[in-house]
Amino acid sequence: MHHAGIIGTGSYVPERVLTNYDLEKMVETSDKWILERTGIRERRIAAEEETNVTMGRLALERAVEKACIDLTEIEMLVVGTNTTDPMWPSAAGHIAHLLNLSRNLPFFDVQAGCTGFNYALAVAEQFVKSGQYKTVAVVGSDKLSAITNYKDRNTCVLFGDGAGAVVLRRRAKEGVIRSYLGGEYKLRHTLVLRDHEDNGHRFMWMEGRKVYAFAKTAMAESCLRVLDPEGRANKKELRTLLNQVDRIIPHQANARIIVSAAEELESKLELPTGAVKRKMIVTIEKYGNNSTASIPLALDESIREGKLRRGDLVILVGFGAGLTYGANLVRL
Ligand code: ACO
Repeated sequence: MHHAGIIGTGSYVPERVLTNYDLEKMVETSDKWILERTGIRERRIAAEEETNVTMGRLALERAVEKACIDLTEIEMLVVGTNTTDPMWPSAAGHIAHLLNLSRNLPFFDVQAGCTGFNYALAVAEQFVKSGQYKTVAVVGSDKLSAITNYKDRNTCVLFGDGAGAVVLRRRAKEGVIRSYLGGEYKLRHTLVLRDHEDNGHRFMWMEGRKVYAFAKTAMAESCLRVLDPEGRANKKELRTLLNQVDRIIPHQANARIIVSAAEELESKLELPTGAVKRKMIVTIEKYGNNSTASIPLALDESIREGKLRRGDLVILVGFGAGLTYGANLVRL
């Protein structure tokens, strides 16, 4: 079995900023409500001509540059996304074409709600570890503004657009150690795409409280299961495993969900208050929830800002429509 290391990260966010004050002019809401209930101040909104493809392409180009490899060295492209329109060909196919990646390269989208990046990375990890490919690119890119109803205050304050990417490559030392993925189909109705009665557009609709309750437990549980895949460790052993983790990058859906997940872990493992919360990387204030982009974007930004260094042990943990959830344990 080979190791699969992340050798480069990149990200892209659109230029246009939509602030809470802008939203105050669009729906019955306030900067205070949004900030207190979600931790979001502003989010980025793609220009009309921008898509998950154009954003994903830019993020991947940057990741490849950081990895110091040539685009032609990529042997497979996996894109986590929920906003490919039309559905065929995949966003991965378009990105491969725009970047002129090698002929006959396998490319595909992974659609798993906001957990799409965790799923896509888990798939790529297997191909590198098995030895089938040496270099696999993974992108998370979504244009949620295209499926957001800007008349629905329950959802429109939460979402934004963006993309992130990583290059995975076979290497001698540990990289993506393992992934843990899960799904809860019986909760599918809590987060769905619905046809709008008036104009036939498809928009996101959700039961926020139910998703919230699911998310905090699913993220806490995913962190434990990725550290202890057999589920055999006792509380003391789990504490030791979690203490070895330098940082956790959670899906940026709501700052309160992130804090709640940290508190759930602290209470379950009888850890001091703040012990897990301090590890959480939170970027939601600037970007809102940009779905599959949120984790690779936070990863890239944290590396660029020096919050994360080579050798750090990191958990990437997410949840999303489906409902789905999962985590990747990564040695940078
Ligand atoms: N501005 C002002 N008031 C609002 C707004 C708003 N934007 N939105 C809702 N309210 C009101 C509600 O109508 C409600 O009023 P009421 O008490 O008179 O009925 C009140 O605020 C409280 O509403 P709640 O839904 O209870 O508010 P809550 O604290 O749960 O926060 C939120 C709502 C932010 C949506 C939260 O439940 C949440 O974050 N849920 C998870 C959402 C999420 O993560 N989705 C994941 C998407 S992942 C993917 O795959 C796309």
